[in-house]
Amino acid sequence: MSTANLQLRIQDQVAWIQIDRPTKLNALNRAVLEELNQVFSDLRTDASVRVIVLTGSGEKAFVAGADIAEFSEFGPVEGRALAQKGQDAVFTFIEQMNKPVIAAINGFALGGGLELAMSCHMRIASANAKMGLPETSLGVIPGYGGTQRLAQIIGKGRAMELILSCQMLAADQALDFGLVTQVVPQEELLPAAAALAQKILKNSPFAIGQAIQAVNAAYEEGLNGFEAEVNGFGACFGSEDFKEGTQAFLEKRKANFTGN
Ligand code: COA
Repeated sequence: MSTANLQLRIQDQVAWIQIDRPTKLNALNRAVLEELNQVFSDLRTDASVRVIVLTGSGEKAFVAGADIAEFSEFGPVEGRALAQKGQDAVFTFIEQMNKPVIAAINGFALGGGLELAMSCHMRIASANAKMGLPETSLGVIPGYGGTQRLAQIIGKGRAMELILSCQMLAADQALDFGLVTQVVPQEELLPAAAALAQKILKNSPFAIGQAIQAVNAAYEEGLNGFEAEVNGFGACFGSEDFKEGTQAFLEKRKANFTGN
C-alpha cells in the first residue's frame, strides 16, 4: 500500500507510515497530503491495524512544513481553500481517527510538520528534533490547525510566544512544555514508538476509540466533553470488549480483545 511519497508497512497490528520526500525535507505538497488522506482512510477501516505510527524519512526532518514553493503564488481564495481542504482531509481527519496515532518526530517538525504531529494523538521525539511554527516569518499564519492545537497542548501564552516569535523549540524544551511526551536518542525513536504501541495493543480497541472521541470532544465546537464521555462510557457496556475485559479480570487471565 506504499505510494509515491509514503512508505507503509504493517506488522503485528501496527501500521508504520513514513513520509518519504527527503530531498525536500518531507515538505507537504499536494501529492503528500492526498496520499496521507488515502492511507489514513484505508487504515481507518483496516481491522488488522490497531495503532499507527507516523514518521519522516531520513535523520534530518519529520516534516519541514507545507511546501512553500507550491503556495507562494496563491491569492486569498486559494489560500483559504488550501487551509480548509488540508484541515478536513488530513489534519482533523487524523485527529478523529478511531485508532491511536503516534507521531515519531525524527528531526525538524516545522509549520505544517508540527501541525501534522499535533494532529496525532501522541508525540515522541528524537533528541535532535526541533519544533516550531515559523509561518509569520513567511508572512502567513499556521493554517492546518496550529493556532488552535498548539494553544490546546502547551497553553495560550507559550503558543502565542512561539507563533509570534517563530522561535524553534529543542526537543528537551518541547518535553518540558508537554508538546512531546518522550525524548530519546535518534536510533531509539522507532523502538520507543513500538514500545508505546505495544502497551496500547494490550487494551480494548473499542474502548480506545471511545476514549479518543471523548478526549477530543472538549475541543470540538458544539460538543460537550462530559456528555461525550457519558455516551462513550455507556457504549462500552454494549461491547464484546467490555464483556471480555471484565471477565478476563475476574478469571485472572489476559484479555483477548476483538475490538467489537
Ligand atoms: N517547503 C518547500 N521546500 C522545502 C521546505 C518547505 N517547507 N523546507 C525545506 N525545503 C527544501 C529546500 O528548499 C531545499 O530544497 P533544494 O535543495 O531543492 O533547494 C531542501 O528542502 C533542503 O532544505 P535546506 O533549506 O537546504 O536545508 P537546511 O538544512 O539548510 O535548513 C530548515 C533546514 C528546515 C531550517 C529549512 O529548510 C527551512 O527553514 N525550511 C522551511 C521551514 C518553514 O518555514 N516551514 C513552514 C512552512 S509554512
